[in-house]
Amino acid sequence: MTLPFIDLQAQRLRLDGAIERAVAEAVTGGAWVMGPQVRQFEADLAAFGRARHALGCANGTDALALPLMAWGVGVGDAVFCPSFTFTATAEIVPWTGAEPVFVDVDARTYNLDPERLEAAIRAVQAEGRLRPRVVIAVDLFGQPADYPAIRAVCDRHGLKLIADSAQGFGGTLNDEHPLHWADVTTTSFFPAKPLGCYGDGGAVLTDDDDLAQEIDSLRVHGKVVAKDMTEGQAFEHDPKYLAMRIGMNSRLDTIQAAILIEKLKVFGQEIEWRDRIAARYNERLAPHVAAVPQVIDGGRSIWAQYTIEHEDRDGLAAHLKAEGIPTAVYYPVPMHMQPAYAGFARGAGGLPVTELIRERVISLPMHADLDEATQDRVVEAVAGFEGAGA
Ligand SMILES: Cc1ncc(COP(=O)(O)O)c(C=O)c1O
Repeated sequence: MTLPFIDLQAQRLRLDGAIERAVAEAVTGGAWVMGPQVRQFEADLAAFGRARHALGCANGTDALALPLMAWGVGVGDAVFCPSFTFTATAEIVPWTGAEPVFVDVDARTYNLDPERLEAAIRAVQAEGRLRPRVVIAVDLFGQPADYPAIRAVCDRHGLKLIADSAQGFGGTLNDEHPLHWADVTTTSFFPAKPLGCYGDGGAVLTDDDDLAQEIDSLRVHGKVVAKDMTEGQAFEHDPKYLAMRIGMNSRLDTIQAAILIEKLKVFGQEIEWRDRIAARYNERLAPHVAAVPQVIDGGRSIWAQYTIEHEDRDGLAAHLKAEGIPTAVYYPVPMHMQPAYAGFARGAGGLPVTELIRERVISLPMHADLDEATQDRVVEAVAGFEGAGA
């Protein structure tokens, strides 16, 4: 029998009808767009993420675009981000007219390398064609990037910092969420994410009151918000019928918010379970693979993926498939090698780490409901691989 890579039905059953009840209430409640569940979930999410504001939106891609739009990032601007990430991280940059600059990652954590970031910024400054504006750090596979070092680089050059926590929301560094260092944290509620809904969804978190209003406006067609009004001024109609800026339609559905309210209640517990599973995997897999995941000192991963390295990665994948164990490769083609993105700049020194690990990484089944017997089945199958070896 083939195992599920991520078993979301096990979670649904464990929650014992709570999700189905929440969906039914959202349906009968009738406030299907921006209903009370959206407000409640935003408050719950802000509390969980220790943020002054959490704003739901349609997906984790829009969540990245919204702050860039709010900051007026556009033609002639450079946005620095890793190449070893999902398309969305870079995709939103050309939307604004700006250009991504791809930076290499740390060989142990796969997250943005602060020294390579510094070098990339200096190279862009020296060339003089683009103006450095924003850094997007990604919490790849669930663990936080090196935010203290990345923030220091941003401060040195006057750049904004976005934490793309689509894979890592809930992860911490020295007990702090990425927002402790970043101007904005974004996340995705795509179903496979550790905090996922039953469709598409996303959120932006920030402590910046002014930015929160800008994003609230942009997500609803540039609607008028409190900061647009002078003292005593009022608009007596639906605010979305007064457009103060060029916005978009990017709202979190009420039904998805209702699901997320239930899932957030157990998310902290699930992170602990995932951490326990990863520790057990680490101990048992270490002798059989080239590398088990390495988390930054003081970091806590939420284990969106459990990713190992193997010298015969494709051989291992074929072997595991034959044993009924699904695997995934994130990411075989990094952004700077993608046809649509190959023309954009690369940080000084190229991307040697990215190009090495793309051939070695492979992710194994990981979810909060993975029991020990199933973990052992995965471990035994990896140990049984007689390929080129680790
Ligand atoms: C690192 C990263 N950023 C952004 C996104 C975009 O999220 P969404 O699929 O909700 O648009 C994803 C989703 O897969 C992601 O992995």
